[in-house]
Amino acid sequence: MMYQAIGSSDIQFFQSIVGSPFVLTDADLLNRYGRDETEDLLYCPDAVVLPSEAGQISRILAYCSERRIPVTPRGAGTGLSGGALPVFGGLVLSTERMNRILFIDERNFQVTTEPGVITEVLQETVKQKGLFYPPDPASRGSCFIGGNIAENSGGPRAVKYGVVKDYVLNLEVVLPSGNIIWTGASVLKNATGYNLTQLMVGSEGTLGIVTRIVLRLLPHPRHDMLMLVPFHSAAQACEAVNAIFLEGIIPSAAEFMERDAARLSLQLTPSSIALDEQAEAFLLLETDGNDPELLFRDMEKIHAVVQRYAVGETLLAETADQKAALWKLRRSIGEAVRRHSVYKEEDTVVPRAELPVLLDGVKAIGRRYGFRSVCYGHAGDGNLHVNILKEQLSDAQWNELLPRAIKEIFELCVRLGGTISGEHGIGWVQKPYLSIAFNPIQMDLMKKIKHVFDPAGILNPGKIFD
Ligand code: LAC
Ligand code: ZN
Repeated sequence: MMYQAIGSSDIQFFQSIVGSPFVLTDADLLNRYGRDETEDLLYCPDAVVLPSEAGQISRILAYCSERRIPVTPRGAGTGLSGGALPVFGGLVLSTERMNRILFIDERNFQVTTEPGVITEVLQETVKQKGLFYPPDPASRGSCFIGGNIAENSGGPRAVKYGVVKDYVLNLEVVLPSGNIIWTGASVLKNATGYNLTQLMVGSEGTLGIVTRIVLRLLPHPRHDMLMLVPFHSAAQACEAVNAIFLEGIIPSAAEFMERDAARLSLQLTPSSIALDEQAEAFLLLETDGNDPELLFRDMEKIHAVVQRYAVGETLLAETADQKAALWKLRRSIGEAVRRHSVYKEEDTVVPRAELPVLLDGVKAIGRRYGFRSVCYGHAGDGNLHVNILKEQLSDAQWNELLPRAIKEIFELCVRLGGTISGEHGIGWVQKPYLSIAFNPIQMDLMKKIKHVFDPAGILNPGKIFD
């Protein structure tokens, strides 16, 4: 596909649509919009536009389709698969000005929002009305709800409450043609035609740009309890997760951290938490609900289950501060690993009971290739983040061995009935591995869908597949 670079007449056009202050061409700024949180990758756009409403996006996309100018949609730039990187240059279209929560429908338990709202802000705003939007990616304090929809994000609570797709009822979308559509209806059930809403969720900004979002909400649970359990073997920690479910309990979080994940994170954000020196791994286990006694009994049952494994002393968070410190420990791991070494993050996922086999396999592959890895993630979902560390390896070794090791890890996932990304998406950096998860017939179907939406191939080009 041949693309056009952006010239001065294009800039003038964009200025006439969004206003001059909202077309950025400064080198510094282009640099900032040329990165997300995926490794240290940088692809500078020619320009950045900051539209404030769907009508502006419509005119921009129609213009760029006609002139074959690549457009890369961007939320907060917290993605981990490079989905927001403008790999062919062109235009970055940031939704950051579209940051209003439009309507909280308390009668129907719904919220309508623009895409540039920070996820945690949305959660806190609906919470004030007793309402609950559960999906809580680690980056929820900075990521945008629009980006969460593009990636179908998860987070710790997914184990009980599901991921973003389970909350999206209806979307307003600007198509690459410039047409603006709603994908469905704002209802809890819908058996009307193809499910365009769910086709958009997780499409990584390749099919359209979401401009309004209708989400389903729940009543906010009144209580939660949180416990950190140290294990003397990482494999046993993974096995214990399944045993908790077999006991009939659905925790609201079942997070796994290898020793090094927890230690690196604690180094980055010191707190009063003392980690068990003997522990090889930890589980962070949460229960939530409205009846504190019931929660306490569930915690006791969980405690009894984990005692069947080699565990150290469990830490039950007594105060809100302790809970916050434990969650901070968990949520800062990604950042801590990034600061420790050049690394490559994989977002593996397998059926939950296969998690111990996956972990074992990842370590065996690491030993064969000479990599160390730090693993952590959403054990309750079978979703293991594998951070392969470069550490002492030379650039040549790293570049040569890494893709082969990743391929083996992904092949193992697929053999175990899993796939290659649970919540971070394919984007730019996982694209070479997609054929491990899909055969040519499946790939062809997806490419045809892309073509129907975006015949000029201008929207987030180079992502998911070529
Ligand atoms: C986490 C992000 C990396 O779970 O998905 O911390
Ligand atoms: Zn995660």
